[in-house]
Amino acid sequence: MITVVGSVNMDLVLEVTRFPQPGETVQGRNFRSAHGGKGANQAYAVARMGRPVALIGAVGDDSFGTDMVAGLAEIGVEVSQMVRRADAASGTALITVDANGQNQIVVANGANDTLTAAEVTTALGDLHECRALLLQLEIPLPTVAAAIRHGRAAGVPVFLNTAPFQELPDELLGQCRWLIANEQEATELTRQHVSSPAEAGFAATALRQRAPQAGIVITLGAAGAWIDSAEFTGHVPGFAVEPLDSVGAGDVWIGAFATQLLEGRSVVEAARFAHLAAALAVTRRGAQSSMPTRAEVEADPRAAAL
Ligand code: RIB
Repeated sequence: MITVVGSVNMDLVLEVTRFPQPGETVQGRNFRSAHGGKGANQAYAVARMGRPVALIGAVGDDSFGTDMVAGLAEIGVEVSQMVRRADAASGTALITVDANGQNQIVVANGANDTLTAAEVTTALGDLHECRALLLQLEIPLPTVAAAIRHGRAAGVPVFLNTAPFQELPDELLGQCRWLIANEQEATELTRQHVSSPAEAGFAATALRQRAPQAGIVITLGAAGAWIDSAEFTGHVPGFAVEPLDSVGAGDVWIGAFATQLLEGRSVVEAARFAHLAAALAVTRRGAQSSMPTRAEVEADPRAAAL
């Protein structure tokens, strides 16, 4: 079982030709709502990879919350520890996707912000069936910290996705087995510009000072990822694609990477598989709705070279 502790959001999405400047109005099209939230997306990705997965999170007692939890249960995510709040709205994310498939996201955390450390540690229990714990930063930091310490104490590897960026104490980073940041987050975490594999390598070295035991991954979109770990350090190239919508690509990457590692793949094999899963996802619209199944990844002609 992989356990995800994290956010659940209803994504309210508009496509734009280009993002507006401050004070500017631009026309959008193809409005849609879709199930998202980094925690829910990562749980969904693990389920798409065919592994048992549970999600611990909070939604409002509203139709968004009902629909999103039902969608997760439908695909096989264990949702018995999800909390419903009568006094908070479900999380929502306002998302614009431009003609290059890039996105801008503004999140109203709503019920995600109410998830407490005590609730999470109780829900996690003794973790005897848990093989990995996946966390992100869309729930309160004290809750994330409690979950990391709980996982670490139980000997469960913790994957921390540093999204969206916030300042993190070294003590917390040092308890994680894997730290996964995108270029933007790596730039903010290290205060060093990251937009190339070489720059990601320098940033990973800086992060290593703060978390000597962790494997560090800096994802670089189509350029792949820089990985700095005990097993492998270097650039793992990605797959060139025509991106349609990159929302949730980082989440599917993490779900695929974690499941592959748990199945005994090497770090490079796991990363290549995750790159391909994410490459397929960015050619489809939405977060959860874009995520390929394991069979779809394996059936892709590029999988032969993994
Ligand atoms: O990582 C993508 C997700 O970020 C979206 O689904 C949105 O809900 C925000 O949480």
